[in-house]
Amino acid sequence: MKSIPYGKQFIDSKDISAVSNALKNDLITTGKLTLKFENNLNKYLKCKYTSVCNSGTSAIFLSFLAIGIKKNDKIIMPAVNFVSSYNLAKSLGAQVFLADVDNRTGQMTPENVDACCKKFNLKKVKALIIMYNGGNPINANKFIKFKKKLNCFIIEDACHALGAEYKDKKKNFKIGSCKHCDISTFSLHPLKTITTGEGGIVTTNSKLLDNKIKMFRSIGIKRTKNKHWKYDVILSGFNFRMNEFQCSLGISQLKKIKLFLKKRSEITDLYNKKLKNVSQLNLPENVASYKSASHLYIVSLKKPNYQTKENLLKFMKKNGILIQFHYIPIYKFKNFKGKYVSKNSEIYFKSAFSLPIFYELTRKKQIYVIKKIKSFFGLNE
Ligand SMILES: Cc1ncc(COP(=O)(O)O)c(C=O)c1O
Repeated sequence: MKSIPYGKQFIDSKDISAVSNALKNDLITTGKLTLKFENNLNKYLKCKYTSVCNSGTSAIFLSFLAIGIKKNDKIIMPAVNFVSSYNLAKSLGAQVFLADVDNRTGQMTPENVDACCKKFNLKKVKALIIMYNGGNPINANKFIKFKKKLNCFIIEDACHALGAEYKDKKKNFKIGSCKHCDISTFSLHPLKTITTGEGGIVTTNSKLLDNKIKMFRSIGIKRTKNKHWKYDVILSGFNFRMNEFQCSLGISQLKKIKLFLKKRSEITDLYNKKLKNVSQLNLPENVASYKSASHLYIVSLKKPNYQTKENLLKFMKKNGILIQFHYIPIYKFKNFKGKYVSKNSEIYFKSAFSLPIFYELTRKKQIYVIKKIKSFFGLNE
């Protein structure tokens, strides 16, 4: 039997024809499909401005460049995260302060931000980076108070959360609508809600920031309308563009996003139902204030123990199932230079793991995963 991955893209014949048709166009980069994909995303996310780019990492980098992060700027971000944000901030010379996280969800809370400011005596910071681990926008509207308090920009690393929604004063908002942040960023890596192979999205409601994002995306070049030979270079930018056949794939994938989200939510429900009698595990909490993108299904050991996690991973692997740990706290990497430990991030690290979740995971395969998890914890059914 082929092993069951923890995540995987879904590509159908419509996606394949979309890509091959795009390859027949005269322009295979910076053409009308880029504009169409951005317009479709604008409508879906309900934001004013969208830019697509070539990865989630470059999306985050574009957001950092647009707000002008520079040497010694202070940035707060969660200690548990994929490492892109940290590396990018460091590459710009910023001082990064890692806030602790909730030990069940792995997400930074407003209380963690307050504690981080107290611990490091931070009164003013350049940016606060939020990450919705697993696709759950738990505190999406609660960080806005820091904008005034810390005089900062708020950036969402929403790479897990395309399609997620949250409530504010009884109204629903999509992550990416930027109602409670300055810039949102997404990844279109194959494991994410929709994919373009590699890819990223940046959204904002600020024309000024959008102009900068688009300039930095395309080498800082400003062209004169209808005079293709006349251009100026107004800043030191990069080439982070997404090509036309990727945009065509993105347009085709976006048409299926409701279906993808529904399936991920059904997989979550089945895990919740079938694993609730495993007394050793904490299952994700069901919270009415948001709709998850269900990017990951994260469970945790009630008694945190990294060795148990590793034993479980090996046991599952032997049985053809790949589980994963999201994430190793950033301060544990060699690249993080300095002594640092945060209490809840350690608990999370020793207890949390992610089970397979993706569009093509059949009920039969999921039941097999559940059976194996249960047998590891000594339950037959
Ligand atoms: C939370 C988070 N941030 C950033 C990234 C980087 O995205 P990409 O792989 O598209 O560069 C990822 C990708 O896994 C991620 O999960």
